[in-house]
Amino acid sequence: MTAPLVFVLSGPNLDRLGTREPEVYGSDTLDDVHSAVSREAGALGLLADCRQTNHEGEMVDWLHEAVDAGADVVINPGAWTHYSYAVRDACAIVTTSGRSLVEVHLSNPASREDFRRTSVVAPVATGTVAGFGLQSYLLALRALI
Ligand code: DQA
Repeated sequence: MTAPLVFVLSGPNLDRLGTREPEVYGSDTLDDVHSAVSREAGALGLLADCRQTNHEGEMVDWLHEAVDAGADVVINPGAWTHYSYAVRDACAIVTTSGRSLVEVHLSNPASREDFRRTSVVAPVATGTVAGFGLQSYLLALRALI
């Protein structure tokens, strides 16, 4: 039997992890995140497809691709979390198709600036994990199983 597929998607500026505001996001790079995710997914019997983009339309296309592939999704939408109805609607396509989608954040947006307290993705996500750095992604994988 093939392992269930999970798309692990990260949005804008997350390619700069490691040097981007390390006091907020920690010193792990995106490569570190992807390596840890792939390891944890393997241990859980999942197959992770890890991707990052700075382009909103590309993220929307990947969410459609997840639906077509029958994959669950772990997504850190970055700043799109707070205002992108296009990403929100694409996330809704995932969850209304019967797949799970976990919203993750390295930081805890609820404890930061006011504009970060709104997530347009949260109402259509299966659940949210925030505030645990790289571990947020790993906890999201555990939530899926
Ligand atoms: C983030 C939180 C967002 O508010 C921010 O715009 C990001 C990263 C996080 O992982 O903590 O880019 O999603």
